[in-house]
Amino acid sequence: MNSNPEFKKRMNDVRKSLASNPIEILTIPSDKCPHFKCDGTGWIQIKDWSKRHTRLEQDEWREKCQCYEQRMRQIEINKKLKLAGIPKIFQGLSLNSFDLDAYKQKDSKDTARLAKKAAGNYVVNYKQMAEIGKGMYFYSDIKGSGKTRLVSSLANALVKEHGISVAFVKAQNLFKEIQKTFNKKSEVSELEVTAAFKDVDVLIIDDIAVEKPSDFAERTLFDIIDYRLEQKKPVLLTSNRTIDELDELYPGERVSSRIRKMCYEIFIPEESVRDLESKQENADIEKILFGGN
Ligand SMILES: Nc1ncnc2c1ncn2[C@@H]1O[C@H](COP(=O)(O)OP(=O)(O)OP(=O)(O)O)[C@@H](O)[C@H]1O
Ligand SMILES: [Mg+2]
Ligand SMILES: [Zn+2]
Repeated sequence: MNSNPEFKKRMNDVRKSLASNPIEILTIPSDKCPHFKCDGTGWIQIKDWSKRHTRLEQDEWREKCQCYEQRMRQIEINKKLKLAGIPKIFQGLSLNSFDLDAYKQKDSKDTARLAKKAAGNYVVNYKQMAEIGKGMYFYSDIKGSGKTRLVSSLANALVKEHGISVAFVKAQNLFKEIQKTFNKKSEVSELEVTAAFKDVDVLIIDDIAVEKPSDFAERTLFDIIDYRLEQKKPVLLTSNRTIDELDELYPGERVSSRIRKMCYEIFIPEESVRDLESKQENADIEKILFGGN
């Protein structure tokens, strides 16, 4: 036993304070918690000193912090974003960073402004849109003008704001994924793969109609689109053909009439940002390779 009077006094003070206020929060708060209450895990560890010697009652337990629900939601969102299959270069990009100044021509800026505004309003009014099963169709004839960029940031925003599930797939890969299931060794069935594309809250098919589809591809697309139309589940599509022009690839209007019903057509500028980017990158590399000022 420590006989130091100073020590005894301190122990007494501690006991007194514990008797009047036996609950102690053991978790050391960190600024990882927005409320500065937990250590960033969403849990707070608590001890009741008055129950220290009782064997029947628990003297230590954990409680949910105010930030817990938000944290769980964030984890869910991250999981959904990971599963969404958004192209790596566009992961995490916001609608805000869709840059109107990326286009040099005035017309292009105006067209881009409208497209960006429509995408933003789609996010705000998503619930209403989902109720009527309406999506969007992003069209520009020219390559590299921002179709995939815009639809990817729209997908990011939908997951973040509404916590919904989205699946992003390039048209050609969609058919390949399903064809793979025909292999006897495949672990997943065709039904399982198509069901995933049918049931996700929002399906994004990028680069629809870049090439003449096989009968199989046409049937697959029809099957998925038709199901989603009946279930009022939105699709977001990008293409370098207008909805009307889809008839050249999918004759008989079976596909185009459904897409017209399901999507509002949005024009993307007829100006390549990719070409501008490449020029800029080459200019930067030239400086490195050949020096200069
Ligand atoms: N408004 C924009 N702001 C910032 N970057 C942009 C914008 N539009 C396009 N880009 C960039 O330009 C490149 C091409 O864009 P994107 O891939 O979206 O074009 P696309 O229209 O889908 O082309 P394709 O028809 O070949 O599929 C990308 O690197 C993208 O980040
Ligand atoms: Mg694209
Ligand atoms: Zn917290």
